[in-house]
Amino acid sequence: MLQGKEILLGVTGGIAAYKSVLLLRELTKEGANVHVIMTKSAQNFVAPLTFQTLSGNPVTTEIFTLFASSKIGHISLADRADLLVIAPATANIIGKIANGIADDFLTTMVMATRVPVLFAPAMNTNMWASPVVQANITRLKSMGYHFMDPAEGELACGTTGRGKLADVDEIVEDIKTLLYPKDLAGEKILVTAGPTEEAIDPARCITNRSSGKMGYNLAMVARRRGAEVILISGPSCLPVPCGLPTIHCTTALEMQQIINEHLEEATMVIMAAAVADFRPAETSKTKIKRLGTHCLDLEPNPDILAGIGKVKGDRFLVGFAAETDDLIDNAQEKMKRKNLDMIVANDVTACGAGFCCDTNIIKIIERDGSVHDFPQMSKEKVAEVILDHVVAGRKKMKKES
Ligand code: C5P
Repeated sequence: MLQGKEILLGVTGGIAAYKSVLLLRELTKEGANVHVIMTKSAQNFVAPLTFQTLSGNPVTTEIFTLFASSKIGHISLADRADLLVIAPATANIIGKIANGIADDFLTTMVMATRVPVLFAPAMNTNMWASPVVQANITRLKSMGYHFMDPAEGELACGTTGRGKLADVDEIVEDIKTLLYPKDLAGEKILVTAGPTEEAIDPARCITNRSSGKMGYNLAMVARRRGAEVILISGPSCLPVPCGLPTIHCTTALEMQQIINEHLEEATMVIMAAAVADFRPAETSKTKIKRLGTHCLDLEPNPDILAGIGKVKGDRFLVGFAAETDDLIDNAQEKMKRKNLDMIVANDVTACGAGFCCDTNIIKIIERDGSVHDFPQMSKEKVAEVILDHVVAGRKKMKKES
């Protein structure tokens, strides 16, 4: 989701420099145009040619490089970019920048640019803990520079502790967070995701097909756009999004209770979870034996969303309608019955849509009945589109009130 973005990637001289190759790959995969700037010592770890080949752009290593435009190199790049990320950032580069030293291309660029600068430090654990490094970081943070914490683990120097370069995925997530418009700032959003599971016995359950991908993407994108998000997740194999408050639950009743506990403070609820409509009337404490036909008594679960709709106030409510037939009619009926502001409908039988795949094909139906059609998109892109409509819908709601 970095299409059209110009990103400057500063690589400094630490063993984690090889991981910036992976970072470059991820950024270009997401559509960014990346210009790599290497310090002299970084070139001892990875050759500039690697970055040049993978970025498709010349790598800047010398301060006196002039571009064809005859503009001074660092000014030209610094003006064009959307963001500068330094990964890995050594204690040395942090110290130089904190103290106003601009003796190579990268340090000069940091001083010349007005775009957000993100540092992803990586160094030996003791260096990271040293008061000098920490004081430099505090100083830079107070000036508006952004920092990621290094990860904990086994370091290349043989010690174990904090100092590893943050995960590439986390660096990409922080870059996106810095680049996104904060059009959901001030909103407190509950996002539900995944299925619920209703136990039949200790080994079996009733559940719905859902990976949780749609809800997790919605939660992540909403946070990037400035919202305070609580993700309420049924059983899912997905990793918990880094730093995102997440509450896990298993059953529909548990999900309902968690939502009720947080509803008061919420300004929006996005119900992407595939909640089981029924639960066994009784759960057997022991595994039910296979002795011919077995009848299961089911009782209905509460319709959580319909319940919220009844006490909605000025909250913005979004529901999902996973359908196999009469998509629009069913979704519209649901939106009215549950008192929603918007419903996202998808035909789960369509190829490239629905439960466990990485893409979805949706229609967004608004309270006034208008229907918006979308082609097959990644679930991350779908989350963006849904939130675009949520932002517009919220504005409309405020105007009308
Ligand atoms: O009525 P249906 O289950 O198709 O409605 C789907 C929407 O309602 C989804 O947003 C889903 O999260 C929500 N839902 C709910 N409680 C249920 C069943 C569905 O909140 N028991």
